[in-house]
Amino acid sequence: MKISEIIDRILDYHPDLEGYQGCDEYKCGDPEQKCTGIVTAISPTIGVIRQAIRLNANLLVVHEPTFYTTMDEPGWFEDFSNSVYEEKNKLLADHGIVIWRDHDHMHAHQPDGIFEGVLRYTGWKPYARAVMPEYGGFGHFYIDLPEPKTVREVADHLMRSIGMNGCRYLGRPDDPVRKIAIVGHLYPAFNEHTPKRADGKPKEYSVQLISELEKDVDLILPGETIDWTVLSYLKDAVELGRCKAMISLGHFNWEALGMKYAKDWISELVPEVKVTYVPAGDMFGYFLNEEQPWTKRSEQLFERYEFRSIHPDTEAEEAAEIEQICFPPNEACSRHHMIERAKAAPDFFLVAIDKETGKMAGFLNGLATDEEKFRDEFFTDASLHDERGKNVLLLGLDVLPEYRLQGLGRELVYEYCRREQALGREKLILTCLDAKIRMYEKFGFKDLGLSASVWGGEAWHEMDIEL
Ligand SMILES: [Fe+2]
Ligand SMILES: [Fe+2]
Repeated sequence: MKISEIIDRILDYHPDLEGYQGCDEYKCGDPEQKCTGIVTAISPTIGVIRQAIRLNANLLVVHEPTFYTTMDEPGWFEDFSNSVYEEKNKLLADHGIVIWRDHDHMHAHQPDGIFEGVLRYTGWKPYARAVMPEYGGFGHFYIDLPEPKTVREVADHLMRSIGMNGCRYLGRPDDPVRKIAIVGHLYPAFNEHTPKRADGKPKEYSVQLISELEKDVDLILPGETIDWTVLSYLKDAVELGRCKAMISLGHFNWEALGMKYAKDWISELVPEVKVTYVPAGDMFGYFLNEEQPWTKRSEQLFERYEFRSIHPDTEAEEAAEIEQICFPPNEACSRHHMIERAKAAPDFFLVAIDKETGKMAGFLNGLATDEEKFRDEFFTDASLHDERGKNVLLLGLDVLPEYRLQGLGRELVYEYCRREQALGREKLILTCLDAKIRMYEKFGFKDLGLSASVWGGEAWHEMDIEL
């Protein structure tokens, strides 16, 4: 079967875009040759082309450009020599590969071929509904999850569904997510530089997304991202305490599921030829800043314990009891003060719950403030808490004796650092007795010498860590 006959079948399957002049066309090769096999892929990377050669497939159906420009007209047209282009072109020519781009047609398909793949391969199809935005821009999908998940659980699910090494997020990992919107690219505008509505107000796509986040959308999954529109709004929303979030998977990473689905429908259209989906692999690698010891979480401890904010109504008493077990009477905070603190600042009261028993194994709690020095009044007056404060005064690290010596205290400190760093907090400040200085130094804290604190009639060292 000739390659051109296969492409005709694909075009017949798609809606007829009358007078179409766009990027969907042949990018290289001779379509009149016999097809030896078809590969679908998000992008014809060198790795994908080499895999197609190994599979003896001479037709690549791809969604994104071959030669690095938006319209991706075949043939390099810039006025400098391009060694990468030339080597790629030679590889394609040497093996007689034909590339057909299916971008606009796939998106024009009903249902949209790319989103259909995303919904199928994330398992979200039963919960999805398409929406056309009122401010213009891209259509998107709402996902109403049957049960709430945390931001981290959604990210884990997506990374597993797509096959990714990591992803960026904006928000708090433990915040609940009920409604997700899979949205388009966060360009400031769509096809217009400064679009305006009839009433003169901006018609930016970001305004559409902000209006939906103001309603009930908890988390957005965008295509390309820029920082200065909807993400700036989201950062403010999170720092004002709203449960809103964004997960940035990378445009190609998630659209790839659409090309995985393309393998399914092309196989049905062209049963005569073998069709293979070839993943291009995660577009990105991920560096973690490992200078700070707390950047990497212990998967082992996260498997055994749930780390989250305290539920003050049901768990404050339990925490107060643990405080009495962990500290001698002169150092322990009173039951009353512990409960008051859990209620005033639950998001600053990080607990580790033993997943097997549901019991609290330990916690780390503190209050936020703009103050730079430790003051004992914070132990007894939770009203000093200022949730927008740039620092956190840590008021107690507690681990029940039966849960000690496995790194749980350290992981509570590290998780606290990760949470607060993500929220833009500057420093965590604590006081400790001489015997604990070395331990906190190992965690990354600096010893600032003797503190003004006289809590429990003891001499305390002040230590801090910059996030
Ligand atoms: Fe795309
Ligand atoms: Fe696309």
